Amino acid sequence: MATRIPEEVIDQVRSSVNIADVIGQYVQLKKSGKNLFGVCPFHDEKTGSFSVNEEKQIFHCFSCGRGGNVFKFFMELENISFPEAVIKVAEDAHIDLPNEYQTKEYVSENSQNSLSGQLINLHEQAANLYHHILKNTQAGQQALEYLYHRGMNDATIDQFGIGFAPEQRLLYPFFDEKKVDYQLLRQTGLFAEDQSGQLHDRFFGRVMFPIKNPNGKVIAFSGRLLSTENTDMPKYLNSPETEIFNKRRTLFNFDVARKSVRQSRRIILFEGFMDVIAATRAGVTCGVASMGTSLTEEQINMMERVTSEIDVCYDGDDAGQNATNRALSIISEQSQKLKLNVVSMPAGIDPDEYIQEYGEDKLAEWLDNAKQTPVAFQMNYLKRNLNVDNEVDQISYLHSILKVIANVPDSLEQDVYLNQLVTQFNLDKQTLQGQLQEIRRQNQSQNTVEVRRDNVRREAQPVIQHDVEILDQTKRAERMLLRLMLHDHDVWYYVKGKENFYFAHESFQTLYLLAQSYFSTHDVYAANEFFDYIDDEKLQRLMIDLEEIEANDEVSMAAVDDYINVIVQKTPLKQLISEKKAQLKEATKFGNKDLEESLTIEVINLMRQQQEQLQSGGK
Ligand code: UTP
Ligand code: MN
Repeated sequence: MATRIPEEVIDQVRSSVNIADVIGQYVQLKKSGKNLFGVCPFHDEKTGSFSVNEEKQIFHCFSCGRGGNVFKFFMELENISFPEAVIKVAEDAHIDLPNEYQTKEYVSENSQNSLSGQLINLHEQAANLYHHILKNTQAGQQALEYLYHRGMNDATIDQFGIGFAPEQRLLYPFFDEKKVDYQLLRQTGLFAEDQSGQLHDRFFGRVMFPIKNPNGKVIAFSGRLLSTENTDMPKYLNSPETEIFNKRRTLFNFDVARKSVRQSRRIILFEGFMDVIAATRAGVTCGVASMGTSLTEEQINMMERVTSEIDVCYDGDDAGQNATNRALSIISEQSQKLKLNVVSMPAGIDPDEYIQEYGEDKLAEWLDNAKQTPVAFQMNYLKRNLNVDNEVDQISYLHSILKVIANVPDSLEQDVYLNQLVTQFNLDKQTLQGQLQEIRRQNQSQNTVEVRRDNVRREAQPVIQHDVEILDQTKRAERMLLRLMLHDHDVWYYVKGKENFYFAHESFQTLYLLAQSYFSTHDVYAANEFFDYIDDEKLQRLMIDLEEIEANDEVSMAAVDDYINVIVQKTPLKQLISEKKAQLKEATKFGNKDLEESLTIEVINLMRQQQEQLQSGGK
């Protein structure tokens, strides 16, 4: 595991908390039999498929398949890295970790040997350089004045790490001087490459805004021109996507917002990151913005994990209103759990312009008080291209808004909107109510058709839980065998003593290998400890799933032999393949083209056979 926190420390933290107490602070748990049950915090459900096993110190959701130990719980819940989760659990348990693990610098990505770690490190250096130039040099003077003119002070500039890339390109020389590897520099996205392969700074003559990942590490930049007059260049230039920067998964200021959610109880979604900065100046730190693209599923997921309420606060112009409408429907389609509000800005201005005009306090007030329900927003929005003084338009408007109102579950809320329509258009309330009922009846009959269709679909399919495959005989045997091996030392050594025993499926074989390394330092098996040996999410789930097997204490070696026999029947092909592959490598090395070709064909055929074997008899 890529971590610098020593294993003893991790063990100490893990063993000093009770997973049930910790999770109990986030999920209401009720005892039933041996386990505790509750509603899964990671997906939308009402049934309570989420269980905590106190004895094993693990959790598992039968419905979404997520599971793991106490660290994994926080990684999932707060979208944080493993070391951050260790630190968090330690804090919760009041365990004093040595200072070196407490620092903000400490995140797993920072490990200098991974590519991401190196790229992040270069971005951090670039951000420092740009910031230094802005704050302390003549070259940054004009940009600094520009920012002051926009109402920012030094505190804000420092807080967001804002910098300046002057016309004279100096990032490349800066890194070149430090002998940073050329191939690495190419992958940062901070340079453009000319035909001769020479690298040139991508950003110049721009105010530089660092874009950070959820851990607060710089992964990209957005650079703004000082002036957009007399130029065809884009106002903002963003880093291209790289190994560390995926726009779909990035929200500006998410690293800060996810922490402030605890007090603010909401995330505010803005259109531009200048608006996020404006809100921060007004003391509202829970703002985020996507990077000039429309909202993605991944971004909604990120937010949903840390908050149950999103306020959409886009620009008060037409484009902003359309974007609001789109965001509302994307979010509500994806998640029923999130409560949505709209904060409408006065016509034509964005939050950043609002703060210029009215000041910081007024913006904070506005963000708190100008909240509307999505329906109230629709009441205005649906009017936007209509002239409601004209009867034709008015009727068409009433039809569309009543459809929206009919979907409001709360009857009191419905009544509020109806009353507004009554006053606004001088209508008879009973007529409107009758119309609403009609729409609801239509919806219902439509729903019953859909429900019926749904039922047919459901009946046609066997009831299988998400992620739980119907296992073929081999997988069943592998599951049972590995379960027994982990929990019973005799079985472990018995199987380990079998030369040439391999699990037929790679996932089980990998778990087996990981278990070997686990047992090299542990005498006794503990599910919650072994869990931290596994990095891959699929394997983690497989391992947690093993713990659900009810096993007898009495294990007969005959049964173990049966499992082994079932498994090895499927295994020989695998070994054959690896032998042939080794031969193929040799043939390639010695340039024996004919042999290479025939071996390649053999390997392909064997692999196809293997695929078929693995797939036959159900998945
Ligand atoms: P806006 O044009 O609304 O920016 O674009 P803004 O926040 O008002 O910026 P200022 O006040 O003029 O400086 C909203 C977002 O769209 C993306 C940026 O992420 C910006 O925050 N954008 C905009 C670009 O990526 N490129 C552009 O050229 C313009
Ligand atoms: Mn603006």
